[in-house]
Amino acid sequence: MKKLVGFIVLVLWCVSCVQQPVTTPTNSIDAKVTALMEQMTWEEKIGQLHQVEGGQLTPQLYSEIAEGHVGSLLNCPKHLVNDVQRIAMQQSRLGIPLLIARDVIHGFKTIFPIPLGQAATFNPILVEKGAEIAATEASSEGIRLTFAPMIDITRDPRWGRIAESLGEDPYLTSVLGVAMVNGFQGNDLTQPNKVAACAKHFAAYGFSEGGRDYNIADVSEYQLREVILPPFKSVADAGVASFMPSFNEINGVPASANAYLFKQILRGEWGWKGTVISDYFSIKQIKTQGFCETEAQTAALAIETGIDVDMMSYVYHQYLDSLLMDGSVSEKAINDAVRNVLTLKYKLGLFDNPYVDTLAQPIHYDVSHLAVAKQAAIEGAVLLKNEHNLLPLSASQLNSVAIIGPMADAPAEQIGTWCFDAEPSRSITPLMAITKELQDGPIIHYVPGLNYSRDVNTNQIERAVSAAKKSDVVLLFVGEEAILSGEAKCRARLDLPGAQAQLVNAVAATGKPVVMVVMAGRPLCIGNEIANANAVLYTFHGGTMAGPAISDLLFGKSIPSGKLPVTIPQAEGQIPIYYYQKETGRPPHHFTLIDDIPVGAKQTSLGFCTYWLDAGIEPLYPFGFGLSYTQFTYSDIQVSQQNFSATDTLTVTCTITNTGKYNAYEVAQLYVHDPVASLTRPLKQLKGFQKVFIKAGEQEKVSFKLTNNDFAFWNNQNQFVAEPGAFTLYVAPSSDVAKGCSVSVVLE
Ligand code: NOJ
Repeated sequence: MKKLVGFIVLVLWCVSCVQQPVTTPTNSIDAKVTALMEQMTWEEKIGQLHQVEGGQLTPQLYSEIAEGHVGSLLNCPKHLVNDVQRIAMQQSRLGIPLLIARDVIHGFKTIFPIPLGQAATFNPILVEKGAEIAATEASSEGIRLTFAPMIDITRDPRWGRIAESLGEDPYLTSVLGVAMVNGFQGNDLTQPNKVAACAKHFAAYGFSEGGRDYNIADVSEYQLREVILPPFKSVADAGVASFMPSFNEINGVPASANAYLFKQILRGEWGWKGTVISDYFSIKQIKTQGFCETEAQTAALAIETGIDVDMMSYVYHQYLDSLLMDGSVSEKAINDAVRNVLTLKYKLGLFDNPYVDTLAQPIHYDVSHLAVAKQAAIEGAVLLKNEHNLLPLSASQLNSVAIIGPMADAPAEQIGTWCFDAEPSRSITPLMAITKELQDGPIIHYVPGLNYSRDVNTNQIERAVSAAKKSDVVLLFVGEEAILSGEAKCRARLDLPGAQAQLVNAVAATGKPVVMVVMAGRPLCIGNEIANANAVLYTFHGGTMAGPAISDLLFGKSIPSGKLPVTIPQAEGQIPIYYYQKETGRPPHHFTLIDDIPVGAKQTSLGFCTYWLDAGIEPLYPFGFGLSYTQFTYSDIQVSQQNFSATDTLTVTCTITNTGKYNAYEVAQLYVHDPVASLTRPLKQLKGFQKVFIKAGEQEKVSFKLTNNDFAFWNNQNQFVAEPGAFTLYVAPSSDVAKGCSVSVVLE
């Protein structure tokens, strides 16, 4: 009898739980989460940690959601969002909403330049705006979490994901990474037009050896603390909602099992309280990486490391229950993870409104969105060369223009990597935009020359040459198709693919002025082609509005202001090459290049210094470099005090004069050098930048504030300290600081 009463009570209790609103003793999220967790079974808790693909509502997915075995979905299309949420809210026992996630990397429908191109804007306000628009468009389809920004520092253009990065510098990446997070998240995640951001990939993914994706990263504590981690720390401080581990191992430990990174640094030292979501299969791969023997162990390792959500490995779903029972996994590890997931769902307001408004007017491609995308493409284009001020072109002085090259009219390619939702039909290509720009003016001779970037069929090249010959100027669009950069799209050779070099050379041989526009996902080693062109605009993959942006730049409606967020090497053999270099004991003063070495020269005759026989010491273009149609000079650097103490704030000012003919923006960059320290320091480190508008013939004063932290570094005792002594400060137009001004200061 007792048993029967017990059974009836249990049944009544279960029935009372079904579809009952969760009781919330107080209003704090913490209290709500606690109350909810008290009602959850272990099975339901583990369900919250399970993330799967939501592309199709299969019977299996239906029942998994209804049983409370799934916490989040990735890649769930708009037309399914309300269906899956209804199952979660109305059929699962506790009515916990799902979190819908997707990679919204550089735009949702309106596509902005690839992140590397956005970094070239050196404009955090614009970058923030781009992320805000991406959030507005994506959330209108029910997406409330994006796996962005990717803030992996990389110094290796062979790595395909350099396209998705913000470049080689920790400071620039920190500033722009925070801008992206602010744009995605806003101040209040409950707003339905905001999405939670995700800092990825923690950590050292951009240091994959040899630029080969997923490869090991063997990094010193110096490299980790000083170069790799700062952007992650910055976005953690800025309140990024989630983190994602990288695929690779770091010094022998796969990221998804890396307690040093996740427990000690992220949660411990930084005190970050957010949700960690694994990468796709990254937990299961721990076994493949040779770090444990069984799949079950991968789950145990990851959950104990603090990886809250398992994206697609299914190992939490399969093994956590039994691992908990046999004591291999602690209750605390699971409870902590569940708390993190539920907290994020509350922060997003999903318990109050998990649904998407299917009746709302679509806001994709709003004119204001397109205007920002165009501005980002304008500011993200870097003018590398402009012989005899060939640019800007004056349409009224031209009779005919040749438009040549496989990227001139390649709507899908200009979008770049990682855009699942982009619609190439909405791209405006350079050909379209220039045709419109010149509609009442010069005749256009358009010959692609090659049909796509890898095309090796040279049949059309002769026609391209004829078009060039009968034109006053050639606009030559070269680069890489979108598929050649991004995840697992690494290249060992960084030339122009296919027969493009042949096309460039043939067109250049006509002697006509050639403006080469490079639309690529990475820096390419194309010194020969650049030498053959008279002007070069490096636009990366500029997104939906690349065409109008390029047209405006070529015809002077806009003035280039982009600066390189990454060094362009002369040759692959220089990689890794980046501005943040240290001095060697044998600086490159006096060296002989390979062609100048006399035959039979003595072994000792070249001088023993650091350089490449066949490439010297300089890159093709340094970090921070970018020309304008006008010229700027830097003068009169001043500091508020020559000697300063750890508590002072130094103000550095410098005058920039626009000595040319155009009103334009300039990005002034502040670099610091600590010449002597207990650990050797880089020759320069970016510590500030300012984008200023200066009218032709006028000057502006830029001003930077520096505090003790700007002089500090991670010493051998693993402390972040500034050591007393002299420092040199540079304010310059690029990392080639000799072109700017310098001043010495002393930390006492
Ligand atoms: C793998 C990528 O490494 C990661 O960046 C991305 O967010 C996930 N796949 C989900 O698509």
